[in-house]
Amino acid sequence: MLVLGIEASCDETASAVVRDDGCVMSDVIHTQTSLHAPHGGVVPEVASRDHVRHVSRVVERALAEACVSLNDVDAIAVTTRPGLLGALLVGVEFAKALALATEKPLVGVDHLHGHLSASALFLPGTKGHAAPSFPHVALVASGGHTALYLVRGPHASQVEALGATRDDAAGECFDKVAKAIGLGYPGGPAIDRWAAKGDVSRCPLTFPRCRLGSFDFSFSGLKTRVAAHLEAHGLPQNEDELANLCAGVQAAIVRTLVSKTIAAAEASRVPAIAIGGGVAANRALRAELFREATERGLQCFLPEKFACTDNGAMIAWAGLQRLRAGEQDDLSLDASTTSILPSVTRKGSGRR
Ligand code: KG4
Ligand code: ZN
Repeated sequence: MLVLGIEASCDETASAVVRDDGCVMSDVIHTQTSLHAPHGGVVPEVASRDHVRHVSRVVERALAEACVSLNDVDAIAVTTRPGLLGALLVGVEFAKALALATEKPLVGVDHLHGHLSASALFLPGTKGHAAPSFPHVALVASGGHTALYLVRGPHASQVEALGATRDDAAGECFDKVAKAIGLGYPGGPAIDRWAAKGDVSRCPLTFPRCRLGSFDFSFSGLKTRVAAHLEAHGLPQNEDELANLCAGVQAAIVRTLVSKTIAAAEASRVPAIAIGGGVAANRALRAELFREATERGLQCFLPEKFACTDNGAMIAWAGLQRLRAGEQDDLSLDASTTSILPSVTRKGSGRR
């Protein structure tokens, strides 16, 4: 079985063809980063218009690179939520038109469910991945979301919320700090690269976190801590100072993500952890989470790096889970700005 995935929830137009064992036959991404860069953030209307310009070409390339035609595909999966409404609608309407023209099944997918299911994906010619068994704890850490879930099964309705960020997402924190020190957008990959050359003991950063035992996160204190550091010391004056500051920032973010994720798995008495979202590409997070999980006898499932940041393959794969459960959508499929996954955290305050 082959599923065509289409993702257009924010600033990436992406499409992929995925086989039912998780093999990614093609993975095409058109990024709008340079289009939004002069504005210092994603401009929703600019994003929608760019999706309109590129979606058909991106899907055609995904089919061509998988060496299949639309006829060979068994179903079409598309991101319906959460994201920018105008951007989501471009993908949803395009997918509906394809489903109507080809009479193939159509399935809508929650973007966050795509991220938390991505660790099963692999590229042709590489070893297939064992997917985490159920139940397991999953951390989704991206530019817009940071949350911990108890995943009881492959379907979105089997996902329980354990906690989430009360303010900034982890990726947002990487991006805002990177902007403040002149590293540009997206900040995560740049901080990851600089941190690898730095010495965290030369710039240890502490910041207020959510109390122990809560699975909520708070990253706004770190942003303030970095602002205070820059006020006191000025911008890094040389490569060593920049690398040390990046190492300090990264270590602070990684420590809180790792400790809360391990604590959530232990409190939920599950044998495994999975991660997803752009921040899951971070080398220090991957290494530290894997090491600590293994030390505690927990299995740790890390998605391949191509599957961490926004992509169409994770959407095709999550869509496949819905198809396997006998579900599909009709042409009334609509987009929404909110996730279908539950939440127990209110932004800016505590637990509901
Ligand atoms: O999942 P994603 O592509 O988009 C959203 O759904 O938000 O995540 C993008 C985020 C950005 O904030 C980016 O800075 C961060 O993921 N990111 C990283 C790394 N690669 C991407 N953060 C830390 N280290 C990385 N290597
Ligand atoms: Zn994402």
